[in-house]
Amino acid sequence: MIPMVTIEEIQKHKHSRPRGIKKDFESLRKKVRDISKAIKKYHEGKLKKSGFQELMRWDLARVVSSAASLANSSKVRITEQFDIWQHLKGDEAVKKMGTAKGYDIISKMYSDHSNLVVAAEGRKIIELIGKIKGKKILDAGCGSGRYSIQLAKKGAEVHGIDISKGMLKVARKRSRRWGIKYQIASMLRIPYGNDVFDVVISNLAIDHVKNYKRALSEMLRVCKPKGFIVISTMHPELISKKKLVVPFGKGKIKVGVVSYRRTKKEFTAALKNGVRNLKFYDLMVPKSAEKFNPVVYRGFIGKPFVLAMRFVKK
Ligand SMILES: C[S@@+](CC[C@H](N)C(=O)[O-])C[C@H]1O[C@@H](n2cnc3c(N)ncnc32)[C@H](O)[C@@H]1O
Repeated sequence: MIPMVTIEEIQKHKHSRPRGIKKDFESLRKKVRDISKAIKKYHEGKLKKSGFQELMRWDLARVVSSAASLANSSKVRITEQFDIWQHLKGDEAVKKMGTAKGYDIISKMYSDHSNLVVAAEGRKIIELIGKIKGKKILDAGCGSGRYSIQLAKKGAEVHGIDISKGMLKVARKRSRRWGIKYQIASMLRIPYGNDVFDVVISNLAIDHVKNYKRALSEMLRVCKPKGFIVISTMHPELISKKKLVVPFGKGKIKVGVVSYRRTKKEFTAALKNGVRNLKFYDLMVPKSAEKFNPVVYRGFIGKPFVLAMRFVKK
């Protein structure tokens, strides 16, 4: 199947497009046609793999960037830009799979320090935790240990759980000196008793959990009364679908894991009992993130990318 690279999403907003953009649309449309042709050639065996990969890396990135900036000037909503971006990133080579298996594969190339989401979070999560030294902290969905390590270095007793063996292997390797207790477990069934932790954090992980209400109540269960919870998730303004397959990929590795969109309203309703001081934070992509990939990321600079929240257990 040839991936559809459409700009229909942008074009349907003709009415709100300022004059003069038409030419840009035409050249973008031409580029899209060229890319589609090249993809077809590749599938017919008429284009070498190396040439195809090069094209994917550079031309697609440029198209995304043009689409994003055109979308900006024609007032297309950020969610549509993101859809286009995801659409262009994914092709038929993306294999949808279970989260744990997907992250086992992703762990081989996962970088937790140079992507847009990490840039958007910045120091906010650490800031929301406040005093760290001496606290007993659970990192639910700890991945390769991005926050666990920072917190342990600052003097917390850190426990990390994750469902991916691959991610935990990376975390363990990176954390040898810090005495973090990692174990394979789901946030749907946290392997600790009630009222154990001063703080529970869970970053960019609840997105993958279908039964997020259960995950929230598990986090609340293991948190001490008056303790607090800090969660981050992909921003709902960024995503239009309730459920999407997020493609990750480098070289031959292309994996798609399911992610769910949840609004502030849904989180508020799910947390109506047993918590106080629920606060949300819209975290924007800073200008400094442009350096990671100036072409692709330009369209997202200054947009809400991550939704963080903090609440206290009553
Ligand atoms: C995008 S990574 C984020 C990792 C880390 N929290 C960070 O911010 O760098 C998402 C992680 O959530 C984990 N995860 C997904 N569903 C989970 C669940 N039900 N219980 C525990 N971990 C889960 C994945 O295996 C993956 O390691």
